[in-house]
Amino acid sequence: MRRPIIAGNWKMNKTIPEALEFVASIKDGLEAIEEVDRVIAPPFVALAPLADLLKDSQVNLAAQNMYSEEEGAYTGEIAPGMLARLCQYVILGHSERRACFGETNEGVNKKVHAALAHDLTPIVCVGENLEQNEAGITDAFVAGQVRAALEGISAAGAERLVIAYEPIWAIGTGRACSPDAAQHVIGTVIRGTLRELFGEGPAEAIRIQYGGSVKTENVADFMREPDIDGALVGGASLRTSWVDLTRRAVRPESGE
Ligand code: 13P
Repeated sequence: MRRPIIAGNWKMNKTIPEALEFVASIKDGLEAIEEVDRVIAPPFVALAPLADLLKDSQVNLAAQNMYSEEEGAYTGEIAPGMLARLCQYVILGHSERRACFGETNEGVNKKVHAALAHDLTPIVCVGENLEQNEAGITDAFVAGQVRAALEGISAAGAERLVIAYEPIWAIGTGRACSPDAAQHVIGTVIRGTLRELFGEGPAEAIRIQYGGSVKTENVADFMREPDIDGALVGGASLRTSWVDLTRRAVRPESGE
């Protein structure tokens, strides 16, 4: 049974004092939800102060991005080694990085290799835009993104991955994908592609999240689907109701 994982992507929100105050206020609530892996992805500058606040905690941190090179003349970038001891996860290939900052499948693939080499768990984001969705090419497009992002990754490396399916048209719009449609892309398309790439064992072990307008009110509907193992959440992760949202992600069969 895959362990649910709920991650809050704060995007470009909250100063360091705001981040500290917010996490201090939700920490005990999150600690109590032991059935779920709980992850917070603040902006880079808040990682170190939050790592300190959460040092004896089961709540984990993620970076929202990183560069694939070890060090050097890359003004403004953060190397994988710089994230050591600050966070356990790193979000890679978010659609906003692809759309606003020109990230390519090739670049994302290099970052996935670099993250695994540094014992960071990548949360690899894939998802189609509205035009692709309406043209009926979602399945082929998403499968292609998965293949490209994971090129050259071994089955052992793959088992450590988290993948997030985030249809772009559902991000920040209040218009979530239906749980049925998300299950189709996640279960049939993404897990099917993982099975072809890595075989049955790793494909069954890899956790796949849904992201795009996930809220307290709809998270349980996604968690009821057999292949959806959690959520990557933007807007709703910035509020104290984050604790309730995370609690509702506990799978019904684990006894809540
Ligand atoms: P929203 O939850 O605000 O739609 O954002 C989703 C997202 O992009 C998380 O990475």
